[in-house]
Amino acid sequence: MDLHDIREDYCKQALSQHDCDPNPIKQFEKWLNEAITAKVNEPTGVNVATVNEDGRPTSRMVLLKEVNEQGFVFFTNYHSRKGRAIEHNPFVALTFFWPELERSVRIEGKAEKISPEQSDEYFATRPYTSRIGAWASEQSAVISSHKSLLAKAALIAAKHPLNVPRPPHWGGYLVIPDRIEFWQGRPSRLHDRICYLYNDGKWERERLSP
Ligand SMILES: Cc1cc2nc3c(=O)[nH]c(=O)nc-3n(C[C@H](O)[C@H](O)[C@H](O)COP(=O)(O)O)c2cc1C
Repeated sequence: MDLHDIREDYCKQALSQHDCDPNPIKQFEKWLNEAITAKVNEPTGVNVATVNEDGRPTSRMVLLKEVNEQGFVFFTNYHSRKGRAIEHNPFVALTFFWPELERSVRIEGKAEKISPEQSDEYFATRPYTSRIGAWASEQSAVISSHKSLLAKAALIAAKHPLNVPRPPHWGGYLVIPDRIEFWQGRPSRLHDRICYLYNDGKWERERLSP
């Protein structure tokens, strides 16, 4: 399989330090809005990297469900592989990639569980079958078959025909950022990278070499 000739030259837009909002959360919201408006695939899809107790990194995709002045929220099973890694080491890295806009955003920070009330609030907005799924899936555990998973989901649905309470082990993480980088693809691999660092209670901006 020859992959050598698969390459794109990026030429859609540029990013200057001057154009960036002094607040990286505002800048992120601007880019996310542009990604949604451009109808990119899964604009809220984000890769989350964790490091476990043995110092081994791994990463997986999740969906961003909220962004606010404090940070970035996603939901998952606290007993999952990622949940266990975060329990030992709360430092995580998030990467968004919006290929249609030739843009990427990298975020580093500390993950904290959000309050049970906040998790309840979001859980209640999920479709019924997703709420059942949250009980049925012991996320990251080995199971015998897909059929056994469906059978478990059916049992849970019979038990909760209407109201499905939130499983206590399912909820949100807030990633509180201390580094946020905006990457805009440019021609000849001479890309724009504007990086914000949180120092002494304020955000500072600098341009990085591609
Ligand atoms: C586009 C996409 C979105 C996903 N969103 C979530 C999510 O919001 N929460 C979640 O727990 N898993 C989500 N998953 C599944 C995860 O990638 C992963 O399989 C799961 O969380 C188990 O990961 P872990 O074993 O490392 O904990 C998503 C997968 C994809 C491809």
